[in-house]
Amino acid sequence: MPLPTALVLGHDLIDAQHDHLLDLIARLQGCSRPDGAIADMVSFMRQHFRDEEEAIALRDQEVALDHGATHRVIAMQVLDIVAGMQAGGCPDRASRSISAILLEHIVTEDRMLKRLFSLPEPRHLTLPRGTE
Ligand SMILES: [Fe+2]
Repeated sequence: MPLPTALVLGHDLIDAQHDHLLDLIARLQGCSRPDGAIADMVSFMRQHFRDEEEAIALRDQEVALDHGATHRVIAMQVLDIVAGMQAGGCPDRASRSISAILLEHIVTEDRMLKRLFSLPEPRHLTLPRGTE
């Protein structure tokens, strides 16, 4: 599924990962037995959160800390849902809830990163002469 233009943040890795997350969400929603798809989602979500926080931290440490706190809340919600499913809860409901939580985050909080990612990467910045 191509990433909708409104969700493109201008960061190649993060945009590619959001694109993959949307694919995983679509896979979850079309799954009759979503347990394996949910495990794939949780694993990829963790990697993506780490990469996104690193990309943010290169530009603004404070935003990275705030955004990381949001990621931790989401990860706890998702793990609670998975635990509920493993304890006999409905897998369909679990996959719908996880999809909704991640979509909401991408569409709201992650979209606000667009301006931050439009800043030049630190390696493109040069120190004034005499400060190296
Ligand atoms: Fe995020």
